[in-house]
Amino acid sequence: MSRKYLIAGNWKMNKTASESGLLVQQIHSSVGSQSTVQVAVCPPFTSMGKVSEELEGSQIALGAQNVYHEASGAYTGEVSAEMLRDLYVTYVILGHSERRQYFGETSKSVNNKILSTVAGNLKPIYCIGETIEQRERNETLDVVRTQIREGLENFSDSEVENLVIAYEPVWAIGTGKTATDDMAQEVHSFIRKTLAELFGENAAETIRILYGGSMNAGNASGLLSQPDVDGGLIGGASLSQKSFCGIVQAALDLEA
Ligand code: 13P
Repeated sequence: MSRKYLIAGNWKMNKTASESGLLVQQIHSSVGSQSTVQVAVCPPFTSMGKVSEELEGSQIALGAQNVYHEASGAYTGEVSAEMLRDLYVTYVILGHSERRQYFGETSKSVNNKILSTVAGNLKPIYCIGETIEQRERNETLDVVRTQIREGLENFSDSEVENLVIAYEPVWAIGTGKTATDDMAQEVHSFIRKTLAELFGENAAETIRILYGGSMNAGNASGLLSQPDVDGGLIGGASLSQKSFCGIVQAALDLEA
């Protein structure tokens, strides 16, 4: 398997620009010079200029938490792919459950953003996952299949290597409840099967599928050792150097 682990911190609406600068310096000094595991940080927009400067010459990639699908124009409050690229952004988190819950995003509405992200030479991290009610009704696999099909409609086969999927069960986000290693593997392998139906077996083997939801330095190793778990999208534990770099270290230990 040639997929490289990706450990990405989703800082959500946390950290001022100066706090972000400090945190990224700490992360950089701890894990910024290795390239065995791909590390990424996704700060809020207001911190991105500062973090981008701090990351110059580092192996750590910069990610954004959103993008608008139009290139430019009268769209108050929005940010385009070109603006992100100008800050050396690599990844864009899209379809996060918090954006679905609080900002009305759906797999269909996020499809435009995914397509314009790849058209803008950026890599989407497309987030999917079921609510607790859906899991209890045994709908998990149907829900993630629909989210994949709708969110990735018209996604070009030739762009597949730039796609990252994050499986984030909504009930595990910020709750301290993590999917067990087996639960994560079951859904991840189903996601890969669904991707194979859309893009072919070989392509599906190249797409990284991250786990997100209360991942921390203690449970990372078990989750990351599952065959279809290719990294993590980390919320709370990405906000301190110790816990975030502990997760990166767990991935490095598995590669050693
Ligand atoms: P937590 O790690 O805080 O559960 O958040 C996960 C997440 O939503 C990452 O995008």
